[in-house]
Amino acid sequence: MTIQNQSILITGGTSGIGKALALSLKDNNKVIVTGRSIERLEEAQKNGLIPIKADLTSREDLDKLVMTIEQQYPELNVLINNAGIQFNYHMLEETDTLQRIHNEIQINLTGTIQLTQLLLPVLCAKPSQILNVSSGLGAVPKTDGIVYSASKAGLRNFTRGLRKILKDQPVTVIEVIPPVTDTHMTSSREEDKMPVEELIAIIIKQWSKGKQLIAPRKIKLLLGINRWWPGLADRIIK
Ligand SMILES: NC(=O)c1ccc[n+]([C@@H]2O[C@H](COP(=O)([O-])OP(=O)(O)OC[C@H]3O[C@@H](n4cnc5c(N)ncnc54)[C@H](OP(=O)(O)O)[C@@H]3O)[C@@H](O)[C@H]2O)c1
Repeated sequence: MTIQNQSILITGGTSGIGKALALSLKDNNKVIVTGRSIERLEEAQKNGLIPIKADLTSREDLDKLVMTIEQQYPELNVLINNAGIQFNYHMLEETDTLQRIHNEIQINLTGTIQLTQLLLPVLCAKPSQILNVSSGLGAVPKTDGIVYSASKAGLRNFTRGLRKILKDQPVTVIEVIPPVTDTHMTSSREEDKMPVEELIAIIIKQWSKGKQLIAPRKIKLLLGINRWWPGLADRIIK
């Protein structure tokens, strides 16, 4: 199956993984992207994408976004929940973290779930797909990002639950798990990062094949290790 003639909404489609995915899909599909930064949204428009400003932490923005979809793009049939943020801090070394804790949960989990809830009527009205971008850290937490890890664990569980409740609906639920990828989010991290173009090629290939778990081999290996030897997984992800 080629990904074509779809009407796709990508949250956080103005940067990193979401932007690269949007650009790779735009020639054969209608692609709407959301984010907060006006400059990035203007750039998206120049690149042939349909930009809508929406902060996932704002109830007003969520309502406006959903109203725009209902009125102007009711054919929407793919929701890619990609927007996310990550802060790196150790909770024993930093204590002034309450705002960061709030934001990470609000954007990565609450806002994402709320947007999904609001768009379910549009999506359930026709054959549709929901792709949730989680993280390997949602399976194996890392010590300087346990709130991010918890938010992604929540998103993974939500994805599984969504699949259960939508089993009699024409909606397929897919989880995408990127490895550490070279984007704005990881710009301060000194480690091996997958180039974003390489990740997009993997996503498109596995998505086209109808996979419900989209992830490169090393993430699938991590999930396997975590399943059988969780202690070893904790030693790999510190
Ligand atoms: N990069 C990695 O190594 C990696 C690994 C595993 C999973 N992931 C996941 O992949 C997804 C994309 O990450 P990325 O690396 O591409 O990050 P990125 O380059 O920082 O892009 C994040 C996107 O989310 C948007 N965003 C942030 N806060 C938002 C808010 N409050 N409301 C609406 N949009 C918001 C940003 O736009 P504005 O700032 O303009 O709002 C931007 O478009 C995230 O869910 C991340 O957790 C990334």
